[in-house]
Amino acid sequence: TAGDQQSDFDATIAADGRIEPRDWMPDRYRATLIRQIAQHAHSEIIGMQPEGNWLTRAPSLERKSILLAKVQDEAGHGLYLYAAAETLGMSRDEMLDLLHSGGQKYSSIFNYPTLTWADNGAIGWLVDGAAIVNQVPLCRASYGPYARAMIRICKEESFHQRQGFSILLALARGTDEQKAMAQDAVNRWWWPSLMMFGPPDGESPNSADSMAWGIKRFSNDELRQRFVDMTVPQAEILGITLPDPELRWDEESGHYAFGALDWSEFKRVLRGDGPNNAERVRRRKAAHDDGAWVREAATAYAAKQAARMEQ
Ligand code: ACO
Repeated sequence: TAGDQQSDFDATIAADGRIEPRDWMPDRYRATLIRQIAQHAHSEIIGMQPEGNWLTRAPSLERKSILLAKVQDEAGHGLYLYAAAETLGMSRDEMLDLLHSGGQKYSSIFNYPTLTWADNGAIGWLVDGAAIVNQVPLCRASYGPYARAMIRICKEESFHQRQGFSILLALARGTDEQKAMAQDAVNRWWWPSLMMFGPPDGESPNSADSMAWGIKRFSNDELRQRFVDMTVPQAEILGITLPDPELRWDEESGHYAFGALDWSEFKRVLRGDGPNNAERVRRRKAAHDDGAWVREAATAYAAKQAARMEQ
């Protein structure tokens, strides 16, 4: 009966077990997973653009090949995540249509421009650093396909974070101009990186359910704090300052205290009014249209292979 199904589901969640695609699950659990995993997949794919912008202008062959590998990894992450979301019953075509029409979101962070080479360093260090802090707990998410996809993604994100740190370290040890370039990039990416963790706990409508269902393991504010605590000592090693006059070690709490975030900016970016929203979506749609022939060729090839198998 429906009651038995619900109690089986509740028991699995209570025992910290995994829900698998063929298991019964509440409609709202399914819907929230589709929402979060699709948004995560879209973020990976849109997230290729800001750094893709620098592939032809990387300062050395080594930096270029590292950046190429990194951007390619993001495409791979998008694919694992689309595949995980598809196990919940929404097709990739439908998710892409929703991305293109604004019916599903992608991370606010990818609506900011990459103005100099140092931005690739700031993205790796801060954006991928924030992504790791947010995503390591997702390796224990209650939905099996999502949790398993996150394991490999997190390993690759660690490489991305280190390559960003390495770009900034090289600049920070360079000429005065290079140091200034690194500082400027960090100044621009710091606050948007803190916004990646989502709205404050009191204004996060999805958190209560997602925590109860074992999708989220820590709240938005807890993970934001963890990121700040991890990043401040790294900034000291770089010799770069973080653009927050209120940032200080708080002996009593054992954490760094930091200034207030500008949530009106976050809301503006979510509404589509960030510096690069229009461009990101336009590029994505153009890439999708330009790739139509690849999808058609792959479909024709698969049909031909299937026909051969029948002979
Ligand atoms: N950018 C865009 N939208 C956001 C962001 C953000 N940084 N943070 C929150 N939101 C949206 C939520 O999706 C939700 O909108 P919706 O209900 O229309 O989907 C709304 O703001 C309210 O937020 P919450 O109730 O806190 O939403 P949720 O519980 O889903 O928490 C979070 C948000 C923490 C981002 C969660 O979805 C998550 O952990 N996602 C997986 C990680 C991810 O997507 N990372 C992408 C960037 S990292 C990278 O790609 C390198």
